[in-house]
Amino acid sequence: MLTARSLFQAIHDNDEAFRLFCSIAAQDENQGGWENERIAALVRDPELAPKIARHGADERKHGRIFAQLLRRRGLEPVPVPPDTDYCMLLERQGIGLLHERLRSDRPMDDRDVITYLAHSRVTEQRAAEEMRLLARVLGDHPEVGRAVRMISADEDNHLAYCHEELLRLADQGHEKAIRAVLRETARAEIRTHRDVGLAVMRRMGRILGWPRPQRAALAAGLHLLYLYEAAYGWRRMVSLRLPAKRNAMGPRPVTVV
Ligand SMILES: [Fe+2]
Ligand SMILES: [Fe+2]
Repeated sequence: MLTARSLFQAIHDNDEAFRLFCSIAAQDENQGGWENERIAALVRDPELAPKIARHGADERKHGRIFAQLLRRRGLEPVPVPPDTDYCMLLERQGIGLLHERLRSDRPMDDRDVITYLAHSRVTEQRAAEEMRLLARVLGDHPEVGRAVRMISADEDNHLAYCHEELLRLADQGHEKAIRAVLRETARAEIRTHRDVGLAVMRRMGRILGWPRPQRAALAAGLHLLYLYEAAYGWRRMVSLRLPAKRNAMGPRPVTVV
């Protein structure tokens, strides 16, 4: 039977599939790293800027971890196919801060910070959930378990931080704007997640020679997930509540990887 464990195990055990998986993940992480670095440089709030910088440093670290997993297997990264490029596809729909904006030197205003945090609130929810799933199925794997557990803990921190910072801004009178951006971002994200998932699975199916029924089952699963998220699941991506772990992106010892 097809399970998350057997799916990830099959990807892990095949060089070409593993190379594609890690290349896509590394690019996503590096893109997130760059975006956070730029935003940290342009934010005027002296308390928020170092947290955004730390967020960026974490994503860069994740990018290095995925690159390292490839190197350890003696594999080179491959170019990421455009239809699997989650960050770029979201940016093209005008979700989050546009790259043109990030390349400018204009300081960020409240509206920009809300756009950044709402985008992060939604995408970090996805990252945290996917890494929790990976940690559940591969957390005790001798080769990748430690990396997966570390990234998963970081993504939980990022999500907690987004909740806390958005609640702080909501208290300052921005609640209506935050709700609107969160809803728009979540709607686009669940579509993009489905499309990228289908594109990745099509490629994995080809590489791993999955039989037609298995490909159909996976595609149906992604469509069903989308329908669930469009009808109901999107709510979990836009809710705000104070996290159990406060100040998750405050000063802490940096883990060098
Ligand atoms: Fe990450
Ligand atoms: Fe993250």
